[in-house]
Amino acid sequence: MSRLLSAAALLLLAACPPAPAPDVVPSSPKLVDFDSQVKPVLQTRCTPCHFPGGVMHERLPFDRAQTIHDLGEKLFTRIKDEQEQALIRSFLAQAP
Ligand code: HEC
Repeated sequence: MSRLLSAAALLLLAACPPAPAPDVVPSSPKLVDFDSQVKPVLQTRCTPCHFPGGVMHERLPFDRAQTIHDLGEKLFTRIKDEQEQALIRSFLAQAP
């Protein structure tokens, strides 16, 4: 009887997919970096007004990640490029 049980247990084990080894687990997706990825896009498109010296820098400074988090999807009324929107969306999805 116990032999039968262990045989059944072995079969069950064999049916399970092997657990991935710890070093094979894919690393989490790369975080979007504000300074090196998001800011350059804004800098290209929204200069000079929202950058130092511009008329909107005091109210809406785009060299600060916080402004971008606060505005969220409102930015997309002025940023229409899909890739740029996707980048900013991933950035917004991250913790501030
Ligand atoms: C020529 C100067 C200038 C440029 C370039 C500029 N802005 Fe602005 N922006 C302003 C001014 C002035 C205001 C405030 C008056 C208003 O609301 O239109 C403003 C306000 C805003 C607001 C808040 C008002 C709203 O509609 O909710 C957002 C968001 C904004 N800008 C986004 C952008 C983005 C994104 C870019 C670049 C793609 C950009 N702006 C480029 C001058 C500029």
